[in-house]
Amino acid sequence: MSSSTSSALVLAAAVLLAALTVAQHGSLAAAAGPRVIIVGAGMSGISAAKTLSEAGITDLLILEATDRIGGRMHKKNFSGINVEIGANWVEGVNGGKMNPIWPIVNETLKLRNFLTDFSVATNIYKEDGGLYDEAYVQKIIDRADAVESKGEKLSASLPASGSDDISILAMQRLYDHQPNGPATPVDMVVDYFKYDFEGAEPPRVTSLQTTVPNPTFTDFGEDEYFVADHLGYETVVHYLAGQYLKTDSSGKIVDPRLLLNKVVTEISYSSSGVSVRTEDKSVYKADYVMVSTSLGVLQTDLIHFKPKLPTWKILVIYQFDMAVYTKIFLKFPKRFWPVGKGKEFFLYASTRRGYYAARCQPLRSRPA
Ligand SMILES: Cc1cc2nc3c(=O)[nH]c(=O)nc-3n(C[C@H](O)[C@H](O)[C@H](O)COP(=O)(O)OP(=O)(O)OC[C@H]3O[C@@H](n4cnc5c(N)ncnc54)[C@H](O)[C@@H]3O)c2cc1C
Ligand SMILES: *[C@@H]1O[C@H](CO)[C@@H](O)[C@H](O)[C@H]1NC(C)=O
Ligand SMILES: *[C@@H]1O[C@H](CO)[C@@H](O)[C@H](O)[C@H]1NC(C)=O
Repeated sequence: MSSSTSSALVLAAAVLLAALTVAQHGSLAAAAGPRVIIVGAGMSGISAAKTLSEAGITDLLILEATDRIGGRMHKKNFSGINVEIGANWVEGVNGGKMNPIWPIVNETLKLRNFLTDFSVATNIYKEDGGLYDEAYVQKIIDRADAVESKGEKLSASLPASGSDDISILAMQRLYDHQPNGPATPVDMVVDYFKYDFEGAEPPRVTSLQTTVPNPTFTDFGEDEYFVADHLGYETVVHYLAGQYLKTDSSGKIVDPRLLLNKVVTEISYSSSGVSVRTEDKSVYKADYVMVSTSLGVLQTDLIHFKPKLPTWKILVIYQFDMAVYTKIFLKFPKRFWPVGKGKEFFLYASTRRGYYAARCQPLRSRPA
């Protein structure tokens, strides 16, 4: 049995406040309605509204297309246990700065989590079964790490404007790393794990400057914690929402400033305010609107902007590719894989690059 979700992926760095302000600044003729409309109730929309609320701007209206908050943080009951069909890891922990999500997950909500062990050298499986020799794998990983370090230095030396940016593949070629691309199964899976798994696209189309070094890890630390709690990673969004939106005794949000099942289709804006239209033909007026939908939504015509967004903004929206990231969940009748510390994550080294390569982890059923 398998259940899969194909959703678009935006790197973790974008989790907080990736909102887009459309209204012009300056003095506004007060429009009838709230001061700010927030489109989308995922992590960024809920966080943006919380920030406004804490700054004293409580006259808000959040419009969410689906019947729930959380967006791409979402759990699903798969064959009796809750699995994460969207975000799964707290990325960037144990570094110089504290990842704001981490204390919420680990201390406040105490969601079940565990450190992802990146020492994959001992966990790469051959296509026809069995593990690769550790020393053989380690040499390949060391070489790939060394090239990445050179890439980080190069990246830092390029102009911040991105005018001289190159792809990860070009960087690898520059340092004479597998100039014809990785060829052996282990070379391929290490390359895939390093770049495609994190960036959702192959090195050929992945920007050097925006991914190497990865600011999430530089700022917050190299560690990643996998959230595997039956309550779901989405609990974090509910927790943040509950800090400023009214809830009932069961914790359910009952605040009239959050409207679900409201698909925004049109945003008209001028120096005197904004007018937001939804699929059910409602119209909401405000001084400002913040759009927190994914780039994937912004790259379509699902939301019509009137007038059209300025060219510079459209260019920025199209500068990033919205990748497809597919998770596949499988349930087996009995456990045949090794278990224990350091065994949770493993790679499969196919002769076809990227073919079911990504590490998987056995999921235990709900803990007592
Ligand atoms: C499969 C997958 C795995 C991931 N793994 C990780 C991970 O391990 N760690 C990590 O940190 N990140 C991960 N991410 C990324 C993370 O999930 C996102 O960066 C984050 O959840 C994005 O939050 P957001 O609020 O910006 O966008 P979203 O969560 O997409 O929220 C936008 C909201 O806007 C709503 N919306 C869209 N269009 C409209 C409209 N027209 N009108 C009204 N509402 C609208 C949507 O329904 C949604 O609720 C993963 C993502 C995916 C898809
Ligand atoms: C998932 O659904 C099944 C069947 O409806 C139910 O028995 C089970 O308790 C659910 N699991 C969780 C974690 O909610
Ligand atoms: C997470 O919380 C546990 C229990 O409070 C604590 O022992 C542990 O050190 C925390 N982990 C990190 C990385 O902060």
